[in-house]
Amino acid sequence: MAVLAHNCSNIRVTVVDINEKQISRWNDPDLSKLPVYEPGLAEIISKTRFKNLYFSSNVEQSIKEADIIFISVNTPTKMHGIGSGQASDLRWVESSARLVSKYARGYTIVVEKSTVPVRTGAKVEAILTSTSQNIDNETLHKSFDVLSNPEFLAEGTAIEDLQTPDRVLIGGKSEKAINALSEIYKNWVPEEKIIKTNLWSSELSKLSANAFLAQRVSSINAISGICEVTGADINEVANSIGKDNRIGTKFLRPGPGFGGSCFKKDILNLVYLCEHYGLYEIANYWKQVVEINNYQQERVFRIVVNKLFGTVANKKITILGFAFKANTNDTRESPSINICKKLIEEGAHLSINDPKVTKNKIINDLGIDPIEKNCTNYDQLLGSWSFEPDIYKALHSSDAVLILCDWEIYYELKWSDIIKGMRKPSWIFDTRNVVSSAAIEGLNINLWRLGQG
Ligand code: UGA
Repeated sequence: MAVLAHNCSNIRVTVVDINEKQISRWNDPDLSKLPVYEPGLAEIISKTRFKNLYFSSNVEQSIKEADIIFISVNTPTKMHGIGSGQASDLRWVESSARLVSKYARGYTIVVEKSTVPVRTGAKVEAILTSTSQNIDNETLHKSFDVLSNPEFLAEGTAIEDLQTPDRVLIGGKSEKAINALSEIYKNWVPEEKIIKTNLWSSELSKLSANAFLAQRVSSINAISGICEVTGADINEVANSIGKDNRIGTKFLRPGPGFGGSCFKKDILNLVYLCEHYGLYEIANYWKQVVEINNYQQERVFRIVVNKLFGTVANKKITILGFAFKANTNDTRESPSINICKKLIEEGAHLSINDPKVTKNKIINDLGIDPIEKNCTNYDQLLGSWSFEPDIYKALHSSDAVLILCDWEIYYELKWSDIIKGMRKPSWIFDTRNVVSSAAIEGLNINLWRLGQG
């Protein structure tokens, strides 16, 4: 919405949330306190906020005034009841639709921006029209059109992705509504990049795009395992296959497994949809993408333990990167969570570093309190972790370092200095291709790289 406001000075954008605390953080004069870290976001907010971009918790008033409403609430995987572990929880979409239905005035376009299961549009429409049919003077004049306009931005590059998208997808029944939304995007997106489809194609395209992307990551990760045992090099393989135009170079970076709030959730949602329609073989096909992803995390964990003589008990391991990827403070479904938990279970003492993730977030994710004392105190039976914002301190007296995110600063580490403070034999486990063999040449340190061994 910040990018929309930035490109359309004649449109007033109001972001509303029932969570007042969250809204006050978006209104904080100190832009470093915004709830989301995203390169370039603070700059855009500083240019638009209080001009044509507002953050408010007055939901009722904002809905009343709006011509177009984007429902942008989260749709996490259901953890209880029917479809538990696979289906999306639509309670917030539904409650938003009910609020819109109650407070909207006149003709309103309601846009599904959240990632939703196919045919959610029908549910939203049913909720909107059921209330508007209530006979009372104010609601008599209500009418709605529902559009699907899924978001394809990736975290870490969100502003760039929004500013120059590969495509904008608008699905719906009403040509009038589709054109109205398209006119807004035309302020900065070339017309040929705006795709217009029916509602269901749009909803399914979003899930399918994420499933295809996740499948690429699982495919390259599966090949990385073969590289390590055969002497092939994953970078050389990725480069060679990516040069085929039909395959393409992007999304072929191996890693500890995909994370983030989208891939796993959306594939499981697709799996649920397939099972619902009795398409069990198709469901199993997509499930495998998630299974390879779980396997990749397990594989990294086991390699660390094996290389450290089969035990990590009472060893200090430095974890570089806790977010699900670089350039974000988001840790949802981060492979680091699973890998760290397993290492702690095996008795390791972890010193965790991440440039943007806070200690509190890690406490939440690991479900275990940090041990604030120096990790070199090795008298405990169980493993532990501590948070260390200073990378060099984090690495001091470590037996091993495990790189799980490719933050820019990790490329610049001076291994010749670091090695002096590490316990011997010292190990670097690099799951993101951050450390080159040149960077450690002549140093007494072992390097294991994912997909290269
Ligand atoms: C993903 C999609 O890329 C977006 O198009 C989509 O809009 C978004 O989900 C969403 O549904 O909201 P995001 O999850 O933010 O975006 O991040 P990605 O860049 O796709 O990365 C996902 C995971 O895959 C990360 O853990 C990343 O490290 C991993 N990955 C990605 C790899 O391991 N290798 C790659 O080559 C690419």
